[in-house]
Amino acid sequence: GTAQIGVTGLAVMGRNLARNFARNGLTVALHNRTTARTRALVDEFGDEGSFVPAESAREFVDALERPRRLIIMVKAGEPTDAVIQEFAPLLEEGDVIIDGGNAHYEDTRRRERELRERGIHFVGVGISGGEEGALHGPSIMPGGSTESYASLGPLLERIAAKAPDGTPCVTHVGPDGAGHFVKMVHNGIEYADMQLIAEAYHLLRSVAGYSPRRIADTFRRWNTGRLDSYLIEITAEVLSHTDAATGGPFVDIVEDRAEQKGTGRWTVQTALDLGVPVSGIAEAVFARSLSGHPALREASRSLQGPAAEPLDEEAAARFADQVEQALYASKIVSYTQGFHQIQAGSEEYGWDIDLGSVAAIWRAGCIIRAAFLDRIRSAFDSRPDLPSLLQDKQFAEEIGAAQDDWRATVATAVRQGVPTPGFSAALAYYDALRAERLPAALTQGQRDYFGAHTYRRTDRPGSFHTLWGGDRSEVAAD
Ligand code: 6PG
Repeated sequence: GTAQIGVTGLAVMGRNLARNFARNGLTVALHNRTTARTRALVDEFGDEGSFVPAESAREFVDALERPRRLIIMVKAGEPTDAVIQEFAPLLEEGDVIIDGGNAHYEDTRRRERELRERGIHFVGVGISGGEEGALHGPSIMPGGSTESYASLGPLLERIAAKAPDGTPCVTHVGPDGAGHFVKMVHNGIEYADMQLIAEAYHLLRSVAGYSPRRIADTFRRWNTGRLDSYLIEITAEVLSHTDAATGGPFVDIVEDRAEQKGTGRWTVQTALDLGVPVSGIAEAVFARSLSGHPALREASRSLQGPAAEPLDEEAAARFADQVEQALYASKIVSYTQGFHQIQAGSEEYGWDIDLGSVAAIWRAGCIIRAAFLDRIRSAFDSRPDLPSLLQDKQFAEEIGAAQDDWRATVATAVRQGVPTPGFSAALAYYDALRAERLPAALTQGQRDYFGAHTYRRTDRPGSFHTLWGGDRSEVAAD
């Protein structure tokens, strides 16, 4: 065969990825379960580059040069396993199967192990940027073996988004499931970013009394500063959109129930297992869940709230500035928590992930792309063992400078009865990290009281137990 890469699964993501490869000068083999899709792609976009359509799995495999590189772009879970089962018997040692879907990293680890035994490289690749990204340049997070990356990396570099400094947004994240793990955390951070932006909107609407159009203008202004990011940009677009049917703001006609396909939930489930506090991401997932319980919400409408405190124009403008500070500070916390989770996953699975290069490949192409990621990159580049982003001097100073307004925002939200779980959780995390002593000492005392679970002392080594039911003397528990 002559094709350097093959794509099977030609729904919108697969189709756009195939076109992206072809537009960048590669010969691309095409395959889809129903051949009509394959033909439609060639009919519509055949002149964009060199495509080799294949009707059968055999024909597809034969169209590829060796070692074969074929990308699976089907639904995560069962459908992915089915396609692997179909192709694996047709492949030879050294060939590479790439899964570009949103797979769970544990599935990727299992598939990699099983295929490795058969001499086939399996590469789980996180791809972010939606349909547009797939076509014009996504951020790409490949896992898998170093050997497979040597043959695959140069192809991915051609289609990846380019960061402002020109570097392609792709790197070998680490072995087996590392790429899909990092993509999962990317999505968790995506949820947190979206929740924080939603809270800012809610406050500007309910407390400052701004219209959606005015809030769009506010976000556009913020987008010229340190909050410069894709999600802020599209938020302004959504907020300024008018519904054609009603002539009112689009945001007012959409049902307020947020859906989710599951990657945010996976992030939190995994964080719980790893013991990593990702409270901001968890609150974002819970906020979506809460919004989707109509019966619960209906029943709760009778609950009392505070009296409204309308702000005059000047006070509203001052408040908007405070919200910007709260949003930025909370965003720093979300990323701190997300990168902590990547660090913990990397240690748990021995992936040796370079956090600076993860930040680097998120600078363009992906949904969470933002100017601020370049600063995260330089924080980890200058100190790869940085235990927490909040220990970077610059970020610590910035969040410190924002804290008064951040607190004022949360206080106003609480007083006015506007739910801000993201802002509040982020602030609680910040304050917990600042605390010299935490009430965890009391928790330990309670555990020792009811279950003889023992505790450690601050003044000498060892584990101890107090005879709570007896004379309350202390015994060594080692
Ligand atoms: C991306 C996105 C994408 C994700 C959607 C929907 O990086 O391009 O993260 O992979 O599937 O954003 O996610 P939810 O349906 O869970 O909101």
